Amino acid sequence: MARWRAAAFAAFLFLLLAVHCRGGKTGICYGRNADDLPSPDKVARLVQQQSIKYVRIYDTNIDVIRAFANTSVELMVGVPNADLLAFSQYQSNVDTWLKNSVLPYYPATAITHITVGAEITESPVNVSALVVPAMRNVLAALKKAGLHKKITISSTHSLGILSRSFPPSAGAFNSSYAHFLKPMLEFLVENQAPFMVDLYPYYAYQNSPSNVSLNYALFSPQSQGVIDPNTGLVYTNMFDAQVDSIFFALMALNFKTLKIMITETGWPNKGAAKETGATPDNAQTYNTNLIRHVVNDSGTPAKPGEEIDVYIFSLFNENRKPGIESERNWGLFSPDQSAIYSLDWTGRGNVDIMTGGNITGSNGTWCVASTNVSETALQNALNWACGPGDVDCSAIQPSQPCYQPDTLISHASYAFNMYYQKKGATDVACSFGGAGVRTTKDPSYDACFYLDSEKIINTNSTPPPAPSASSPSLPGLCFTLLLPVLPIVIASGFL
Ligand SMILES: *[C@@H]1O[C@H](CO)[C@@H](O)[C@H](O)[C@H]1NC(C)=O
Ligand SMILES: *[C@@H]1O[C@H](CO)[C@@H](O)[C@H](O)[C@H]1NC(C)=O
Ligand SMILES: *[C@@H]1O[C@H](CO)[C@@H](O)[C@H](O)[C@H]1NC(C)=O
Ligand SMILES: *[C@@H]1O[C@H](CO)[C@@H](O)[C@H](O)[C@H]1NC(C)=O
Ligand SMILES: *[C@@H]1O[C@H](CO)[C@@H](O)[C@H](O)[C@H]1NC(C)=O
Ligand SMILES: *[C@@H]1O[C@H](CO)[C@@H](O)[C@H](O)[C@H]1NC(C)=O
Ligand SMILES: *[C@@H]1O[C@H](CO)[C@@H](O)[C@H](O)[C@H]1NC(C)=O
Ligand SMILES: *[C@@H]1O[C@H](CO)[C@@H](O)[C@H](O)[C@H]1NC(C)=O
Repeated sequence: MARWRAAAFAAFLFLLLAVHCRGGKTGICYGRNADDLPSPDKVARLVQQQSIKYVRIYDTNIDVIRAFANTSVELMVGVPNADLLAFSQYQSNVDTWLKNSVLPYYPATAITHITVGAEITESPVNVSALVVPAMRNVLAALKKAGLHKKITISSTHSLGILSRSFPPSAGAFNSSYAHFLKPMLEFLVENQAPFMVDLYPYYAYQNSPSNVSLNYALFSPQSQGVIDPNTGLVYTNMFDAQVDSIFFALMALNFKTLKIMITETGWPNKGAAKETGATPDNAQTYNTNLIRHVVNDSGTPAKPGEEIDVYIFSLFNENRKPGIESERNWGLFSPDQSAIYSLDWTGRGNVDIMTGGNITGSNGTWCVASTNVSETALQNALNWACGPGDVDCSAIQPSQPCYQPDTLISHASYAFNMYYQKKGATDVACSFGGAGVRTTKDPSYDACFYLDSEKIINTNSTPPPAPSASSPSLPGLCFTLLLPVLPIVIASGFL
């Protein structure tokens, strides 16, 4: 009996986890239009350290493809617009490309998608007539290699493919593109591939700050929202409005079953003087809220609960991109691999998805500096926390309560903890590239007071997590979900 119960309990837990570990996927775009980026091998390590599982690249550079071999990272690769002519003209061109650029590295590198052409409606050269023939040739080549069921073919688009995107229900494709769009949509349906689109609420905000509120663009709960007068649907963020405008445009052409995939979205961390929205804080807010939205399977007002996959643009700042200042500053990382702001890739943060309560307010955890890292690493992390990390570091200034002892480790500990508590005491908020460690021992001393997650986060509504559940071996995405499950199951007498 006891064994049966244990088994049933395990199965129950597994079921809960299985169900709740679904959720849209969040990946990253790895653009390489820069002359100062780390080598692909280093990038592959960085991506894995960050627990990022999906990466999009814009070509089939073999050094990059090889760098992701034997990792658990799934790769979306691309055929650049400049290759569409060759790809559309001769099947043999495509067969040769597949043989040289993909097959030698597959399946060690988990290539899952090929994008044929990128935002062709933005291309200065009119390549629109080439894209569907190129897609067909890529499909034929994959078929010969027996990979057409394993690798998905699509093409990415900008929102400029619509002639109208507001209100979302009025979303419509620009009829000038009908000549390639209709066969492309048919191709996607036949091959169960998603419609791929790059969405940038940032530009809508930047171009029209008087009409688009920052809160609306950043998914802030303070956003007043916008009502679609035709459907009565309420949009609390611009991302959803843009996704639904595509959905309604597809529906108008009777392609309502096509899935929509967001192959780029993000927010710049820096811009020209007039680009006031381009800050690390806004970038962090946009991407954090985006990940939560996606992991949560919130869907959109027109398709609630719909799973949607997104790729965040971009991994690095890219110094060779032309255009306004923000163009070069979409990265999560600088070329030296330091984080410009931190991002919780689990999307769970301190919000418990099941109960809506905060669950990481464990009974007193703090984040302090590790004694085990170099001074340089500590100093960099301290500078980051008090700079881009936006921590109030006044308490560690001379004559302030936490100035003594005047050591790097003491000052870094104070700053790390402030950041950690501010960010909801999540695992990642104490990473600092390995320089931070969590502790349950209160580091406060004399008049130097270290904030404590108990005092910041209201845990009244949920029981504190069982200590054993903090085992780091649990997969990141499901980690925080297990915590509330245990006490709830126990409290409800299931055992
Ligand atoms: C990946 O692993 C396989 C099998 O262990 C090995 O033969 C191959 O050389 C590895 N590939 C790379 C690029 O490291
Ligand atoms: C691009 O080429 C296609 C096919 O050749 C043509 O129908 C379309 O009008 C062209 N678009 C532009 C903007 O020139
Ligand atoms: C539709 O596309 C054509 C060709 O790119 C462009 O000239 C026109 O302005 C677009 N129409 C709208 C309403 O966006
Ligand atoms: C704001 O919206 C109004 C009405 O839709 C429009 O006339 C105006 O041009 C917009 N302003 C900007 C800066 O886009
Ligand atoms: C997650 O989804 C639920 C229901 O879909 C919603 O009530 C909740 O606010 C969402 N949480 C976040 C953080 O988006
Ligand atoms: C969770 O914590 C945040 C502060 O980090 C607080 O604003 C919010 O009200 C808390 N939510 C619940 C349900 O306790
Ligand atoms: C939290 O810690 C305090 C002090 O150690 C202890 O008295 C209290 O019982 C703990 N609360 C819970 C819910 O474990
Ligand atoms: C300190 O660093 C070494 C080597 O990087 C590692 O093996 C060891 O586990 C670390 N110790 C602690 C307490 O983190």
